[in-house]
Amino acid sequence: MTTSTAAKRVFVKSYGCQMNVYDAERMTDVLDCEGYQATESIEAADLIILNTCHIREKAADKVYSELGRLREMKKSRQEAGLDLKIVVAGCVAQAEGQDILRRAPAVDLVVGPQSYQNLPRLLAKTTKKRTVDTDFPVEDKFKSLPSPSHDRAKVRGVSAFVTIQEGCNKFCTFCVVPYTRGSEYSRPVVEVLDEVKRLADVGVREVTLLGQNVNAYHGLDAKGQSISLGQLLSYVSEISGIERIRYTTSHPLEMDESLADAHRDIPAVMPYLHLPVQSGSDKILATMNRRHRIQDYLAAISMMRHKRPDIAFSSDFIVGFPGETDQDFAATIALVEQVGFTSAYTFKYSIRPGTPASEMDEQILEEIKDKRLHALQALIAKQQRAYQDSMVSQTLDVLVERKGKYSGQMAGKSPHLLAVAFEAPADYIGRIVKVRITDSVTNSLVGTLAS
Ligand code: SAH
Ligand code: SF4
Ligand code: F3S
Repeated sequence: MTTSTAAKRVFVKSYGCQMNVYDAERMTDVLDCEGYQATESIEAADLIILNTCHIREKAADKVYSELGRLREMKKSRQEAGLDLKIVVAGCVAQAEGQDILRRAPAVDLVVGPQSYQNLPRLLAKTTKKRTVDTDFPVEDKFKSLPSPSHDRAKVRGVSAFVTIQEGCNKFCTFCVVPYTRGSEYSRPVVEVLDEVKRLADVGVREVTLLGQNVNAYHGLDAKGQSISLGQLLSYVSEISGIERIRYTTSHPLEMDESLADAHRDIPAVMPYLHLPVQSGSDKILATMNRRHRIQDYLAAISMMRHKRPDIAFSSDFIVGFPGETDQDFAATIALVEQVGFTSAYTFKYSIRPGTPASEMDEQILEEIKDKRLHALQALIAKQQRAYQDSMVSQTLDVLVERKGKYSGQMAGKSPHLLAVAFEAPADYIGRIVKVRITDSVTNSLVGTLAS
């Protein structure tokens, strides 16, 4: 028997959006080829990657407190004669670059979201000096990133993310994404389909197509013609094994009829749409540079409901944007009442350096932001619960994803993205089963197998 040196281990901690979750997997894939095994334990790692988010102040601050803790960890490792490399990736890396090396002495490498294909080379460089790479390379990073090995793809579960579009040209006045992720880029159709096929081959049944503006997708097909998200959904639905397709995040400006048609015509396209609106006031939408009015948003909602009457909507809201009056906020509440959301993310406006809104007059007091946030959250929680409760005694198709909280219990999602728990054998993972809903509890439905 030959003895081999112990494998190096990498631990990736992701903050922020689903795109970071996807990127974390791609980073582990590229490092896998270099002999790094992914580990769930930070203590066992020789390499720690913080995959960061810059969207709000709190998110960015978290990184520095985590780096403080890691500095202690690195010190005690070094005292024991062991090495620990620390990498900052993601959107804070892109936004702050060199500053991170200055503020956080334990960091060996800062790498932006468009440079992950360079990780092995950059890590090698860190043995000589601390390094930063925040270039936006011209070549397609997706092409250079390897796909997961068969074994690792298998353990990732039956529902997977696939980034199909990255970056943003919209420049909402509050948002850092156009600066941290660069301009809009759509992956070519064949590349997306190949990736989904590989996932389907290892047991993935549901894909969520990701993009900062996913419905602005306009990737090139084999003939060199650009196609819309609606058309792409149709191609993805033809891949054997893929039974459910979701996509996020959409922008109200890019809602076209082909997308609504896809919801009507393709059974695999789930009846759920996350469509951020941010505010119910036209005045605030204009100062946010959202480039649409409330009536446009409502028109998009009606178009979708017309084609797919049971479609569920979720959204993102920002309260306390500069200049937001009680009247503007009342318009947000009125919009929520009118549309009826099955869930939503709500945020207090957070000043981001370098964005136009950070320099606007009439910044709103924290107490007012808190009050508005609570009022909005209470209304959304009420709608969410009423929607969930309306499923009791219905029979729903559930994709079985994992073991549930209690022994013998499995957990999965309904087409409208509601969590469902029920008793079933563990080898049901990956199947779509019929579950009769018996109860609605906090954040989940409970039911019994009907098939
Ligand atoms: N591309 C998506 C969302 C990107 S960021 C879109 O256009 O909607 C996710 C959410 O974070 C945004 O929808 C917004 O609600 C919130 N967000 C972004 N910047 C923010 C800021 N400075 N303060 C508070 N919330 C913010
Ligand atoms: Fe940010 Fe606006 Fe782009 Fe969404 S559309 S990522 S909120 S700039
Ligand atoms: Fe955060 Fe970057 Fe996503 S700022 S929300 S991780 S695109």
